[in-house]
Amino acid sequence: MLTKNLHRRPIGVFDSGIGGLTVAKSLFELLPNENIIYLGDTARLPYGTKSKETVILYSIECLKFLLSKNVKMVVVACNSSSSVAVPFLQKITKIPVIGVIEPGSTAAVNKTVNNKIGVIGTMGTIKSNAYKKQVTKYRKDVEIFSQACSLFVQLAEDGWTDNKIAELTAKEYLSGLKEKGVDTVILGCTHYPILKNTIRKVLGKNIELIDSGEETAKEVKNILHRKKLLNTQKKKGYHKFFATDFPNNFKLISERFLGRKISEVKKVKL
Ligand code: DGL
Repeated sequence: MLTKNLHRRPIGVFDSGIGGLTVAKSLFELLPNENIIYLGDTARLPYGTKSKETVILYSIECLKFLLSKNVKMVVVACNSSSSVAVPFLQKITKIPVIGVIEPGSTAAVNKTVNNKIGVIGTMGTIKSNAYKKQVTKYRKDVEIFSQACSLFVQLAEDGWTDNKIAELTAKEYLSGLKEKGVDTVILGCTHYPILKNTIRKVLGKNIELIDSGEETAKEVKNILHRKKLLNTQKKKGYHKFFATDFPNNFKLISERFLGRKISEVKKVKL
């Protein structure tokens, strides 16, 4: 194990597929000098409809791949994985492993004024109650209203983010939350920030939207700073992408998620 120049090692990020690039994008922006390795488990996507046991197993394999790349920290960008697997992953390695649930929950608790928070995510994330458990750890007086919005994932991947279908789907999913009077909604799925405009249009501008990815990037920076692991190099960090299937498709869609071209996506077997 290399302990020298620990801070120069890359940050590992994994997701069930492409969606975690919304989290990676926040990391690229906030930590431009960091080297980042991204793994999308496109062969086994989606995680959001799979059982807890399966998601934990897949997540362990993703972690092991990133550890083999000698990363200094792991970010579980996938909400469905973060909801169930993080404690298991933390037992496997001594390097910091963080998910998106805690940062997203903290931000929501800090934002809400009327103590009514909405959470939207995949079926797996909503069923796990992970956000609810995390929020009530901080504040018992906050009410949580949850809604699974499964179709949002496909809409984001197909680029149907600002059309009539996206708006109708959002209305169908979100009108219940609006009626409950929530003043803050956690976007508890990697893909949902891509639909932010439509979600905002449907919910109205008085409801705060919490992007768990952005909040997670801030937390990564805090942790690296505290542990003196921030990369102090002056040049921009490298970004490497790996996918377990369809690397070309990954590349095409990821350019939509990142809003820029990426050079290469390598196919790997876990
Ligand atoms: N990355 C997943 C999440 O954030 C969405 C896609 C999937 O279901 O795998 O929950």
